[in-house]
Amino acid sequence: MAKVNRSKIGLSLLLSLLLCYFITDLEASSSHQDLDQPYRTGYHFQPPRNWMNDPNGPMIYKGIYHLFYQYNPYGAVWDVRIVWGHSTSVDLVNWTPQPPAFSPSQPSDINGCWSGSVTILPDGKPVILYTGIDENKSQVQNVAVPVNVSDPYLLEWSKPPLNPLMTPNAVNGIDPDRFRDPTTAWLGLDGEWRVIVGSSTDERRGLVLLYKSRDFFNWTQSTTPLHYEDLTGMWECPDFFPVSTTGSDGVETSSFGQDEVKYVLKVSLIETLHDYYTIGSYDREKDLYVPDLGFVQDETAPRLDYGKYYASKTFYDDDKKRRILWGWVNESSPAKDDIKKGWAGLQSFPRKIWLDESGKELLQWPIEEIETLRGKQVNWHNKVLEAGSTLQVHGVTAAQADVEVLFKVNEIEKADVIDPSWTDPQKICGQDESSVKSGIGPFGLKVLASKDMEEYTSVYFRIFKSNDTNKNTKYLVLMCSNQNRSSLNDENDKSAFGAFVAIDPSHQTISLRTLIDHSIVESYGGGGRKCITSRVYPKLAIGENANLFAFNKGTQSVDVLSLSAWSLKSAQINDESISPFIEREDAHSPKQF
Ligand SMILES: *[C@@H]1O[C@H](CO)[C@@H](O)[C@H](O)[C@H]1NC(C)=O
Ligand SMILES: *[C@@H]1O[C@H](CO)[C@@H](O)[C@H](O)[C@H]1NC(C)=O
Ligand SMILES: *[C@@H]1O[C@H](CO)[C@@H](O)[C@H](O)[C@H]1NC(C)=O
Ligand SMILES: *[C@@H]1O[C@H](CO)[C@@H](O)[C@H](O)[C@H]1NC(C)=O
Ligand SMILES: *[C@@H]1O[C@H](CO)[C@@H](O)[C@H](O)[C@H]1NC(C)=O
Ligand SMILES: *[C@@H]1O[C@H](CO)[C@@H](O)[C@H](O)[C@H]1NC(C)=O
Repeated sequence: MAKVNRSKIGLSLLLSLLLCYFITDLEASSSHQDLDQPYRTGYHFQPPRNWMNDPNGPMIYKGIYHLFYQYNPYGAVWDVRIVWGHSTSVDLVNWTPQPPAFSPSQPSDINGCWSGSVTILPDGKPVILYTGIDENKSQVQNVAVPVNVSDPYLLEWSKPPLNPLMTPNAVNGIDPDRFRDPTTAWLGLDGEWRVIVGSSTDERRGLVLLYKSRDFFNWTQSTTPLHYEDLTGMWECPDFFPVSTTGSDGVETSSFGQDEVKYVLKVSLIETLHDYYTIGSYDREKDLYVPDLGFVQDETAPRLDYGKYYASKTFYDDDKKRRILWGWVNESSPAKDDIKKGWAGLQSFPRKIWLDESGKELLQWPIEEIETLRGKQVNWHNKVLEAGSTLQVHGVTAAQADVEVLFKVNEIEKADVIDPSWTDPQKICGQDESSVKSGIGPFGLKVLASKDMEEYTSVYFRIFKSNDTNKNTKYLVLMCSNQNRSSLNDENDKSAFGAFVAIDPSHQTISLRTLIDHSIVESYGGGGRKCITSRVYPKLAIGENANLFAFNKGTQSVDVLSLSAWSLKSAQINDESISPFIEREDAHSPKQF
């Protein structure tokens, strides 16, 4: 177990922050990348080494942000001996690594400490509910509590002997392999806690089981699940939270302001490996969630992200009154490459998430703190992207950048009518964009591009006339992220990703924001209506050799009303060398209780 000198923490943190600003400034110009590690990121959350998957129990406590994560201390691939990795931050951008919060140690979690969530109790104390794999390989729900609630870093956690709190058994009909990922709990009007746990039946009915408790420790399963949907398979990593109908501020999970909130249920479908959400209402009397008309909690529901993105989780940031979303961004490389580079898995850049005015979709945007990393800026105003043109954006570190573009389409009526068989945006985006030529588009960005375009990842729009005359919108805006030419290495998953963005290009401009970070490209279309994250591993377009272009392959010109691109400095992400209070062995020998 880590021996920590607590009196030094404040000073260490201050020192680390100071150091961090110095170091990042120095590194910004040369880019911090190690030539052996061209795919390590500059500002995305990742542990110093090894495997990471789901974000767990994000919270803010006494002014310190915490992120726990599924972590394998033994290597760069997933392992049953998974532990809760832990890092802390004062700004959600720079992160200090901490010893793992807990590891398998009890009969109720001896085969793994899997995902879970934090609930802040009314007295301000945080409690973790997480899934343990017990000595009989059954999934059970456990609790962990901080040892010292005066410690804002919450370095030590203990597991009361009463674990497990919830178990599957023949009576409740829950399969021991399909019972996991408790959410943040919320208080009912009756003063009882509620929490949901992901599950499915043998007939592939996906569901979120509801449990209730007076004291947070003795939980009773409710006779009806909070929600279910047939033929959807296992629902992993559910997330259930209120969103305001009157603005972009977040709402605390137990809030009772029922008139001015809608509810969001997100589930991660194991059968498709995507995160889907519905918007609806929560009947507090019957403890049922009812999606709004038009939403079904299956793979037809909108996704939080249409690319590599899974097992996401939100938390309410009481300091800045916002809800923040984290999501696991998997590799696209074969395991042998992950082992070679010694790590696997990123977290998406934290996103603020809120309900659009229409009440029909969620909006996401990188948290404002990203602006603290912005360095050199390049601006374009009112540039015309002629048909068939490609313009280079000079003057930013193209491998580590933040780009915002506002496009305006002129002769919108020249858009092609969409082929009625093209219903799957991912398939349309998989068409070879270098040979596709349509009326309007493809137009957008080529990022992580080599000088001669042997490699690039393209993020672009195509605009079609709707074939369905009954539709209100006459035009369809397709957003794509195409990885086909992202790397000369053909062993990576280069699937294309795509989504339709619900905006009207005959009246509205089309915005694109793209965060580029060496091996990750996170794009926000239409002001955060649709997000697409991809992982790419260029061989040529690395570091200084990466370039950024705007392009238009369509037969009609498109205006760039504005383009702003910033070089981004490296954040201090879990750099062990500036965390003197952590013993190095911790990364290799998770602490035991
Ligand atoms: C595992 O199974 C054995 C035999 O059925 C039982 O005695 C034991 O209590 C089980 N362990 C747990 C943690 O449920
Ligand atoms: C608990 O944490 C506080 C604040 O870091 C510290 O002052 C105190 O000594 C800690 N208590 C114990 C028992 O470690
Ligand atoms: C747990 O709660 C249930 C339902 O409220 C109650 O019947 C039971 O007695 C409680 N058990 C303990 C050990 O408190
Ligand atoms: C993660 O990526 C690997 C490699 O592309 C893939 O085989 C695996 O199915 C992915 N897992 C998830 C949960 O996305
Ligand atoms: C993918 O790129 C290759 C060249 O690297 C090209 O031959 C092929 O047509 C492209 N396929 C798609 C679907 O874009
Ligand atoms: C829409 O698609 C149908 C079926 O392919 C076709 O017959 C019709 O002409 C199309 N409508 C327009 C406006 O292109």
